[in-house]
Parts: sequence; structure tokens; C-alpha cells
Amino acid sequence: MNSLLNQANTILNQATNSPDDHWRPKFHITPPEGLLNDPNGFIQFDGQYHLFFQWHPFACQHGSKFWAHCTSQDLVHWQLKPTALAPDASYDKNGVYSGSAFVLNDELHLFYTGNLKDESNQRVSTQCLAKAVDGELESYQKLGPVIHSQPQGYTAHFRDPKIWQHDDRWYCVLGAQTEQLTGQVLLYTSEDAQQWQYMAPIAGDGINGLTDFGYMFECPDLFPLDGQDVLIGCPQGIKPQGMNFHNRHNNGYFVGELDCTRAQYNHGAFQPLDRGFEFYAPQTTLADDGRRLLSAWLGIPDEDDQPTVEHNWIHALSLVRSLHLIDGKVHQRPVEEHQSLRQSQQQWPEQPLNATQPLTFSSENCFELVLNVEQIEGVFSLRLAEVDEHYVDISFDSSTGIFKLDRSHALHQTGSRECTLNNTDSLALHIFFDRSVLEIFINNGEEVFSGRVFPSQPVSNTTVTSTKSCIIKELIRYDY
Ligand code: FRU
Repeated sequence: MNSLLNQANTILNQATNSPDDHWRPKFHITPPEGLLNDPNGFIQFDGQYHLFFQWHPFACQHGSKFWAHCTSQDLVHWQLKPTALAPDASYDKNGVYSGSAFVLNDELHLFYTGNLKDESNQRVSTQCLAKAVDGELESYQKLGPVIHSQPQGYTAHFRDPKIWQHDDRWYCVLGAQTEQLTGQVLLYTSEDAQQWQYMAPIAGDGINGLTDFGYMFECPDLFPLDGQDVLIGCPQGIKPQGMNFHNRHNNGYFVGELDCTRAQYNHGAFQPLDRGFEFYAPQTTLADDGRRLLSAWLGIPDEDDQPTVEHNWIHALSLVRSLHLIDGKVHQRPVEEHQSLRQSQQQWPEQPLNATQPLTFSSENCFELVLNVEQIEGVFSLRLAEVDEHYVDISFDSSTGIFKLDRSHALHQTGSRECTLNNTDSLALHIFFDRSVLEIFINNGEEVFSGRVFPSQPVSNTTVTSTKSCIIKELIRYDY
């Protein structure tokens, strides 16, 4: 019988892009066919970046997940490699779930969750190892479970190991659910990355005074950043608070200090990382040059009704971003390597803009926009992806400092998201629009809004307006 791995590789090798699919991004990672979700195993090894992702090759729905594998020299041009892991072992046959990568004895290892539904359809989660077995790092041998079950007091919703080394010991954080159905992050330690000891829960519901923190915490990632320890992840079931946490499943981070030996993590409030509509399961890695890099799934669990399913694929990964901690806040910036994708540019001269003078241009839906606006009075806005009666509005109200992304007039999409910015009279936007992916970096990464947009045609209009006045200091569109 054709193995699951071969079946996935056949799909990967035979997948073709339909010529009338103008939603397939040019430079964001998407699945060849089927469904993509979390980035996994992000690592730089021997100078090359490896980025794996959760993949269901057989349908645009969640199912028994595989690990697809991409590599890159520059974080921008990615090559899809043979599938790394298939759900073909007794302990992971219902999904090779999310996890991370590490290097041990100069060999690339993967640490993932084996998802199993037993004979009585009960979930069994184990944390498993695999390692690369060829010089090209294209085939992986499973080494089996190394954490055989969740600790006492927790359900089998126990997954997504993120591993790191510190002072000659290994540590990992895992997402977990207590028997009271609350979400927590658990810390484990090991001398050799094979024998693991459970230490303690270090964050989540009931810890550090946190209450009402949802029913599960997925995809934790804990790392040092600019002198602090940042824990990012995805609590499920938290309620909206003001402008924050309006997605069905949310993302965010704590800033604090981790004491590994005592298994204590003192941290501040949980803050949103990306404020857009589709952003989940972010994972970071430390690059050789010291940058903390992040990739994320530009999707949300339970939102799988996007129109790309008519072309047999769904979801995308974000651009790779670098992280910076400034005044207790994580800033995200697109890595500079993206500039190498720029093909041509149109630059507008510095100019004042008032209520009667909008600035409009048409372009293909694959561009980067750099926009610096000063002396804003009234509301400054940008209408993107305008085709027929459909569009996305971005606005900034200088009287309140409120920035808003509104897609209630977009085709197939609804809703708006907003936040309050510190600056009230100037705005710097760095926007990437890749056919159906929108990523908006505000004020050099102080806030980011990501989401999907599906214009009915590949060419659309962009309009810049002001209800009172402002000065457009810089406006450049780079075409890709
Ligand atoms: C997050 C998640 C992880 C899990 C994986 C399964 O999106 O639910 O917790 O490991 O996806 O695909």
C-alpha cells in the first residue's frame, strides 16, 4: 500500500496553481493543496532556515495532520521539501501535531505532539521526538514518545512542546488544560532532551492572580527578548476586553521573568500580539545573527469557510517578523530581507491632503506600501482592495488616537478591529498586500493587524483621504 508519506508527497509534487486563482499569494507560504495551520519547528541550522507547518493534504478541513517542510536561505524565498512527518505511527495516527525543532549532537530533531484517539475514541496525547536521517535534512525518523502522558490534574488536551536550552539543561513549555477545564502552560526539564521531568504550571488560569483565562492554552513559546522573558501563545475561550481579544480564538503575550530552576514565571498583563482577524499559533526562533524571528498561521481554528477552497487550498503563514521589546511592549517588524522581493516602485511626492483631494491609484493586488503621514487633523484613511462596491478601510482618528481596520464592506468577510495608538498627529504604515493576505505594520511595528481579504478581481484601487488635512511625507508602492 502507498504509505501516507508517499500519498502526501504525490499531492505535493502534482499540485498546480490554477491560472484563475488570483487569491494564491505570491510570497506567503500556502499549502500546495489542502489545509495549512500552525508553523512548526522553526529553526536556523547550518545557515539554512527550516520552517515546517501543520498540513492536512487530503482536504481543506482539519484532519490527521502531517508536518510539511520548507527551507530558505533568506526567510523570503521558500522551497517546499518532501513531507517531513506523516501520522503513520500507532501513537500519532490522528495527527502529528504542533511542536518545535532543536539541534542535539549536531543533528536536527523535531519535538511534536502525537495525537491519538484510542478504541473508545478518547484522546491520548504524547510528546514525541524525530530526527533527520539524511544529509539533506529531507527525511525524518520517528524516535517515539518521550513524555507519555499529561501530569495528574490535567486532561489529554496537552500539546505543542516548545523546547530550548539554558545553562546546559533543556526546558520545554507545553499547552495544557486542567481537569477543571482551564488553560495553563506547563514547564518541563531534561538533561538530555530524552528523559523529561515535569516541573510546574508557570502561567495561565489561577497563576499569578490570573482568572477567567479560558479553557485551553495552545502553542506556548517562551524566550528571552531584550532583557525580559516573553511568553506568547493562544488562550482559547477568553472574553473580549475593550478593544482586545475579539477573535473567536486569540493570541497574545506576557512579559516577565522566568526562574527556570524554581519553575516560576512572574509576569505582567496578557497583551494582544497581532490585532487583526486571522493570526494564531505564532512560533519564534533565535537566528544565528541574534534576531528573534516569528512566523504565524494567518488563520483561526474553526474559521475554514474561505473562498480559496474552490481552488483546493486554504490558509497561509505570515511573513517572517523580527521581535523587539520596547517599553514593555513587543513590537513586530517585517524582516528586512523582504526588500529583496521588490520589483518596481511608484513614489508620490510629498504633498498636503485635504477633504476635497483624495489620492487614488490602481495596482495589482501584490504590493508593499510605505506611508508616512504627519500633521494629521481629523480622520486620515486608506481604502484598500476596492473592486466594485467592495473594499477594506483603514482609518486613524487624530482626535482619539483610534486606529481601525474595517472589512465590513469586503467580499466574503465581515467585522472591524481597532486599537488606540500613542501618537495622535502622525502615522507610519507599512502594508503588505499579497493577493489575499493583508499585514499592516503600524508605527514601526508598535501594532500589527493581519487578516485575509478576497477581492473579486486581481487589480484594485487604493485611495488615500483626509477629512480635514494632513501632509503625506512619504508614499511608495513597491510592486512584487
Ligand atoms: C493550534 C492547534 C495546536 C495543535 C494543532 C493541530 O492551531 O490546535 O494546538 O497542535 O493545531 O493541528
